[in-house]
Amino acid sequence: METTAVKQHAITYLVRQARRPRGVVGWMAGWVFDLRPSNRQRNKWAVSLLDVRPTDRVLELGFGPGVAIAEFAERATHGQVFGIDHSRAMVRHAARRNAVAIRAGRVHLTQASVAQLPSFGAPLDAVLAVNSVGFWPDPVERLRELRRVLRPEGRIALVSQPRTPGATRDTTVRAARELEDLLTRAGFTGLRVETLDFEPPVACVLAINPGGTTA
Ligand SMILES: C[S@@+](CC[C@H](N)C(=O)[O-])C[C@H]1O[C@@H](n2cnc3c(N)ncnc32)[C@H](O)[C@@H]1O
Repeated sequence: METTAVKQHAITYLVRQARRPRGVVGWMAGWVFDLRPSNRQRNKWAVSLLDVRPTDRVLELGFGPGVAIAEFAERATHGQVFGIDHSRAMVRHAARRNAVAIRAGRVHLTQASVAQLPSFGAPLDAVLAVNSVGFWPDPVERLRELRRVLRPEGRIALVSQPRTPGATRDTTVRAARELEDLLTRAGFTGLRVETLDFEPPVACVLAINPGGTTA
């Protein structure tokens, strides 16, 4: 095989693993997501932007190794933290990281696709997804569904740090515009973009659920 073809093959494989980490490589990917300092900082920064209050009920979609889930649990001390991820390897990894809060009944992790949201019992105050929306089927429809489980005036944060080879500041700007477009089409309002100056930069698009119809 030519070098370019080998490289392309490797990139396709890594993207597939990021989409749904599986098996031994998926298990290793979990540790890479977990131990990379930029990943940890990106997740902690994203949670800080959501202004979580102690009684908040929050949800993370595509939590990977569960760094943001742990951060949520530290802030929502009298609330509830929900997480869904369709990768069994990631659910196991995040469950280990958050074992104490799970035992205390404050963190609930479910292996599920964003296309099949479980019930959260009562409306949520905030929703987060970090480097995950790009993998979702029909993201506008998923975001409309999220509006139905978020309370009116509830907050959402969608974060992107492009990890494609050669990604630059421009790649991040484009990714943020795409997230803004998805949120607007789904009916979210009050959009605001925050940037973390990494290489490449991280964009977080924040928005509000205006309530009312999601049709
Ligand atoms: C690149 S990882 C990011 C993990 C974590 N948010 C972080 O920043 O470290 C993407 C995560 O989204 C999850 N994911 C992708 N598509 C999904 C879907 N349709 N439903 C549920 N989880 C999904 C993957 O399993 C993976 O854990």
